[in-house]
Amino acid sequence: MSRSELVVLLDESYPQQLQSLAQQLQLPLVNPDQLADSHAEYGLGFFQQALGVKELASKAGPVSVDFTSGTAAHRRNMGGGELIVKAMGGSKQNRPSVVDITAGLGRDSFVLASWGFTVQMLERSPIVASLLADGLRRAQHCENFEVQDIAGRMQLWQGEAQDYLVALSDEQLPDIIYMDPMFPPSKKSALVKKDMRVFHAIVGKEQDGSELLATARAKARHRVVVKRPKKSAYLADQQPSFSLAGKAVRFDIYSLRAFVK
Ligand SMILES: C[S@@+](CC[C@H](N)C(=O)[O-])C[C@H]1O[C@@H](n2cnc3c(N)ncnc32)[C@H](O)[C@@H]1O
Repeated sequence: MSRSELVVLLDESYPQQLQSLAQQLQLPLVNPDQLADSHAEYGLGFFQQALGVKELASKAGPVSVDFTSGTAAHRRNMGGGELIVKAMGGSKQNRPSVVDITAGLGRDSFVLASWGFTVQMLERSPIVASLLADGLRRAQHCENFEVQDIAGRMQLWQGEAQDYLVALSDEQLPDIIYMDPMFPPSKKSALVKKDMRVFHAIVGKEQDGSELLATARAKARHRVVVKRPKKSAYLADQQPSFSLAGKAVRFDIYSLRAFVK
């Protein structure tokens, strides 16, 4: 998505937030009545109190982060995410620290935080990070104490994961580094859900998966966990110590040091 394709949608209910977002992201602020003149394809704005990005010509809803209802709550209530928790290792009494270096919309981080992990999220895209920051803020201030508590275990840092990781001192190294790099578009990409198409348009292609894996393996204390489509090749052709496969995804675990029991 080029910068000219995305505009910030003016909304009288959030004048200051939208103005500072437009400034911060260096995007034009456009009155929704004048969208036709802007030739924009996507709009960043508030949709039912949540910051989101919407494909303007489409009937599909916006992409936004919501930890308080819908799928996130369902996964929390139904005890979803056992496989990702198993992939992290450690024990219930001793939850290791996790840095999620490809945070995206924070869904995996939220699952981990709901299982008691403290998660530092890193996100390179300033647009995605702004959606995630908004979702996190709403979760931290919502009426549900359980969600507040979970969101209290999640922190966001916007920037390049490489920069964050190389700046860590030995004392600051995380127990686990988790990564979920974007997959290259598959033959089924026409079927990819519309909201994910918008997400892909914001984030673009990723090409630094191999470098990231190398840095992660140098910086994690105990293990690096990589999420992949179940049948895809290992990231950077690097054979993991072991893998855990679910219906559609697989977690490749690169063990570095065993956890003390
Ligand atoms: C597939 S998405 C992750 C989805 C996420 N696991 C979730 O549950 O919502 C990958 C994300 O990682 C981010 N990313 C990729 N490379 C990065 C890097 N080097 N540093 C920081 N973020 C990165 C992309 O911008 C994108 O938002």
